[in-house]
Amino acid sequence: MVTVIVGAQWGDEGKGKIVDALAPEAHIVARYQGGANAGHTVVCEGKTIVLHLIPSGILHEHVQCVIGNGVVLDPVALRQEIAMLEDMGVRVRGRLFISHKAHVIMPYHKLLDHAREQQQGIGTTGRGIGPAYIDKYSRVGIRVVDLLDRRVLEEKLRHNLAEKNALLAKVYGAEQLDVEAIVAEYLEFDRFIDEFVTDTTTLLHTALREGKRILAEGAQGALLDVDHGTYPFVTSSNPTSGGACTGLGIPPTAVDRIIGLAKAYSTRVGNGPFPTELHGSEGELLRQLGSEYGATTGRPRRCGWLDLVALRYSVMVNGITELALTKLDVLGMLPRIKVCTRYRLGGTVLKSFPVDVPTLDNVEPEYIELESWQCPLEDVTSFDALPRQAQALVELVEEHCGVPVRLLSTGAAREQIIWRQ
Ligand code: IMP
Repeated sequence: MVTVIVGAQWGDEGKGKIVDALAPEAHIVARYQGGANAGHTVVCEGKTIVLHLIPSGILHEHVQCVIGNGVVLDPVALRQEIAMLEDMGVRVRGRLFISHKAHVIMPYHKLLDHAREQQQGIGTTGRGIGPAYIDKYSRVGIRVVDLLDRRVLEEKLRHNLAEKNALLAKVYGAEQLDVEAIVAEYLEFDRFIDEFVTDTTTLLHTALREGKRILAEGAQGALLDVDHGTYPFVTSSNPTSGGACTGLGIPPTAVDRIIGLAKAYSTRVGNGPFPTELHGSEGELLRQLGSEYGATTGRPRRCGWLDLVALRYSVMVNGITELALTKLDVLGMLPRIKVCTRYRLGGTVLKSFPVDVPTLDNVEPEYIELESWQCPLEDVTSFDALPRQAQALVELVEEHCGVPVRLLSTGAAREQIIWRQ
């Protein structure tokens, strides 16, 4: 049985915490796309842990963790993360399995990401994600399996570096890379990564046959999906639930539950359309109250009201079977709450979420205003004990999205979660 966890907005919905909460019931947690552009935060015994590549299931001793073929692997970030976890006393060796089909991020991917960003203005994280996926689809990417054969690695690297160095110098006027140094660095990384590499597709299928429970963890969010998001202001992979199948090598028929995560308001990092964005002091207040700063880059997140048009679209595209609503505690600190229920364009109500940026930039969101509860939720442990205004918000989300909200997060700590049957 596979449960897919997807971000239903523009990422940062709190996947780290929810995966951590669901991990006790799982045997395997498997990450299916993205790279070290993600930042999954877990607050555990008062300590904040940010993971960029390794699923937060690693914090549960009985869980095995997989980095799937759909991920682009940053050797530097991986080593740092393993070292951080081991320093904390977390056993990683023997519990972390990396797909030999995953592509590797190279130094030129990061340089090209920065160089292209100057021209494109997407607001990328600069982690080399886009250029690494470009190479994957151009069929010149270097996969983890290539690291295992020195001759193949050297050949591919030299070929790629000749092209990338010409591109960096002639098109972007950027510094060139030292071929020998990179070959030496990646051969050394090969020795480090060797013990983690396996055929994760077979590992997952064996687990499925044994009736084990797998949590497939996406990074970013559906509205940043390269196919279904606010293109071109998107990431270069498929965070939507279908990405779990291609990014892990599991069939759609194995998936029986798709949990969509949404904040009780909206945030976005980087550029691109954001119909319900708050530009003034209310947005700033939300940012401060919710500590809305990027977990990877530290950039201030753009903040705005909950957008049910976008969420409905996300439920549809992902096939979300249930929602988890996070940061209810933060929203309830505001003196007034608004929720967007539909868009208008030139007086006409739009029937669906627009696919193009100019339309999205020009829609007029229509809001309904709800009463705020303005009281702390930290001691609330059941839905019935929530303030009635918070219950009303949850019911509004269910009514508009057509799926139940089964999980509510009422604070950063592990235990601040309300489950609904
Ligand atoms: P990239 O994934 O670094 O190429 O960046 C593309 C877009 O996705 C930018 O707008 C980034 O800010 C955004 N992005 C990438 N990763 C995350 C994330 O984990 N949370 C939120 N936004 C992200």
